[in-house]
Amino acid sequence: MDISDYRREYMSLGLHREALLEDPFKQFESWFQQASEAGIQDANAFSLATNDAETGPSIRTVLLKLFDQNGFVFFTNYNSKKSLQINKSHQVAMLFPWLTLNRQVKIEGHCEKISTAASLKYFATRPRGSQLGAWCSDQSEVIESRSFLEQKYREAAEKFKSGSVPLPSSWGGYRIVPRCIEFWQGQENRLHDRFQYTKQSDDTWSIERLAP
Ligand SMILES: Cc1cc2nc3c(=O)[nH]c(=O)nc-3n(C[C@H](O)[C@H](O)[C@H](O)COP(=O)(O)O)c2cc1C
Repeated sequence: MDISDYRREYMSLGLHREALLEDPFKQFESWFQQASEAGIQDANAFSLATNDAETGPSIRTVLLKLFDQNGFVFFTNYNSKKSLQINKSHQVAMLFPWLTLNRQVKIEGHCEKISTAASLKYFATRPRGSQLGAWCSDQSEVIESRSFLEQKYREAAEKFKSGSVPLPSSWGGYRIVPRCIEFWQGQENRLHDRFQYTKQSDDTWSIERLAP
């Protein structure tokens, strides 16, 4: 299938240096709110790229659950493929493709586990079904069938039928502490606006325009 004709012009208001907030987390918050208000479904979904020398690069979608001046937090299984890669190389990249707004945000940085207490705090807010689900998926492992998974779910539901579902030791959060954050706004004739914030040694952020 030849899809070389599959294209569109990116017509949107330009992104100007003087309109950017000096703090990239505030700039991200502003764009995140605009993405939510624009009705982008799962605006908190991002592609998470990991890498290690043995298995090479790998990528998947995860959900952003918290962000503040300390970084961007998501939750997952600590024995999953992504987690094994993060154990070997803490350098990761994230991408939010907010394409209906002709935007993307790219973040590169260092990924580290959050505390068990912080993971538990979030785990406790999850629907019970999701909590049980965390107990029965050895994420990224080969399994024989869907019924195997459903059987494990029934067993977990039975095991924890009274009281709250405890936090599995194999489940928790990671925080990505950014080294650089790029805001991309599509423009006509592929002359897109790109601004990259880079963390300086004194913890301030430089802002530079990149060629599209
Ligand atoms: C919209 C969407 C949201 C997802 N959110 C998460 C998430 O927050 N955490 C997670 O571990 N997996 C999430 N997944 C599943 C991952 O994409 C992936 O299949 C899983 O984490 C296993 O990845 P891995 O084998 O590379 O470790 C999500 C998938 C989609 C499509």
